[in-house]
Amino acid sequence: MTCKNKTSCLFCLFWRPRKAFIGLTAVLTFSLGLLMVYTEKSFTINSFRKVGPENVISFLRNFVHNFRSQQDSLLDYIPASKWTEYRRLNLTGKLNLLVRENASMRDPRLIDLIRKYIQPPSDKPYALKNPDLKDYSCGQSTYVNNLILNSKEKGFFVEAGAWMGEHASTSLFFERSRGWTGLLVEPNPENFEKLKSLNRKAFHINACLSTHQFPALLKLNGASDMSRTIERKEDEQWVIDHKFDQKPYYEVPCFPLYSIMLAINQTSIDYFGLDVEGNELLILQTIPFDDINITGLTAECLEMGQRGSKDAAAVRKFLENKGYTCHGIIAANPGHGCFAEDFIFVKKGLVSEQYNCRLVLDPFIPFIANRTVHNLI
Ligand SMILES: *[C@@H]1O[C@H](CO)[C@@H](O)[C@H](O)[C@H]1NC(C)=O
Ligand SMILES: *[C@@H]1O[C@H](CO)[C@@H](O)[C@H](O)[C@H]1NC(C)=O
Ligand SMILES: *[C@@H]1O[C@H](CO)[C@@H](O)[C@H](O)[C@H]1NC(C)=O
Ligand SMILES: *[C@@H]1O[C@H](CO)[C@@H](O)[C@H](O)[C@H]1NC(C)=O
Ligand SMILES: *[C@@H]1O[C@H](CO)[C@@H](O)[C@H](O)[C@H]1NC(C)=O
Repeated sequence: MTCKNKTSCLFCLFWRPRKAFIGLTAVLTFSLGLLMVYTEKSFTINSFRKVGPENVISFLRNFVHNFRSQQDSLLDYIPASKWTEYRRLNLTGKLNLLVRENASMRDPRLIDLIRKYIQPPSDKPYALKNPDLKDYSCGQSTYVNNLILNSKEKGFFVEAGAWMGEHASTSLFFERSRGWTGLLVEPNPENFEKLKSLNRKAFHINACLSTHQFPALLKLNGASDMSRTIERKEDEQWVIDHKFDQKPYYEVPCFPLYSIMLAINQTSIDYFGLDVEGNELLILQTIPFDDINITGLTAECLEMGQRGSKDAAAVRKFLENKGYTCHGIIAANPGHGCFAEDFIFVKKGLVSEQYNCRLVLDPFIPFIANRTVHNLI
């Protein structure tokens, strides 16, 4: 186009690049959005709100890097400060490969990777905040010790999530007072740091238990005592319902329980304390009960209850089909400084008395007899 006079010429020069600039910016923004949605399938509307400049830069840098190295991770937009230790141990490539393949929970490469990652029991003296307590739990330890395990010595426990390892710990009593060792599983890196500093005499791993019979790499919502992995739409909804969506998000590796047990050469569990804010059933479904001998088990049913008693009933039904009996339900008062609502299961035939899943009145804890617990069973 030729210029008719000076003014329109200036106007053209100014106007056309501006139009081009706006157009180009719109196209670029749209493509970036499409790219992020395409490469990041778990990106929900809610997590979009959290994408700050540092995450966009981190995403782009990682996208280019991944494109070149073919080591893509679903979670690369999570900033480096929120990664768990496995990245710094250079296990990323190996883990991504196993995750992409849906590697079997018995895969020797997976067992080997867990052996490199897991931390052994500490040989240093305990550094507990409250060393005079005996039972740190909301009553689960006393209950299991007295009514199920007959004060067994030198057993093996698994506690998931282990939180910070002391307050409300269902396993510390067995470790200190009965000479047991065990496995502590805690996905939240901040909780894990505190847990590590206590020098507990058990294996500990900064990971979550996989809800599949293969490993995963997941986003974790880091609400301290209610950290929860985000895998499905309903998990994100749970986070929003609990108003935890402003808490930090982390990236965590998740391993099947059986793989971790193989990594530490252990095939029996005397007491398994499972409290993972709603994923209890999915985790239990990954366990090969013929290969691993679990005697007593507590499973939190409060969060399951809040999502509808269907889940709690499903856990009970599932474990009853696997040869367990629901011994009781334990419920502790928040006023007691501890909040719990747990099913207590035991392998059928191991205890003579049939409690038949009643709400248990243990003198150790002030129970709230009229809580929603009744609706769960
Ligand atoms: C991980 O790899 C980097 C770069 O190759 C190296 O500097 C670092 O020491 C490695 N870390 C471990 C724990 O092997
Ligand atoms: C891995 O498992 C997921 C979920 O079960 C499935 O959607 C996916 O297709 C599987 N991938 C491979 C490579 O088998
Ligand atoms: C488990 O067994 C393997 C192979 O025998 C051994 O290398 C490893 O040290 C053992 N690990 C533990 C924690 O006992
Ligand atoms: C499982 O453990 C219980 C309790 O320790 C024991 O009585 C039982 O014999 C064990 N079963 C197997 C198959 O090892
Ligand atoms: C709890 O339930 C019992 C029996 O159903 C009833 O008698 C009692 O008043 C209830 N207590 C409270 C605090 O609601």
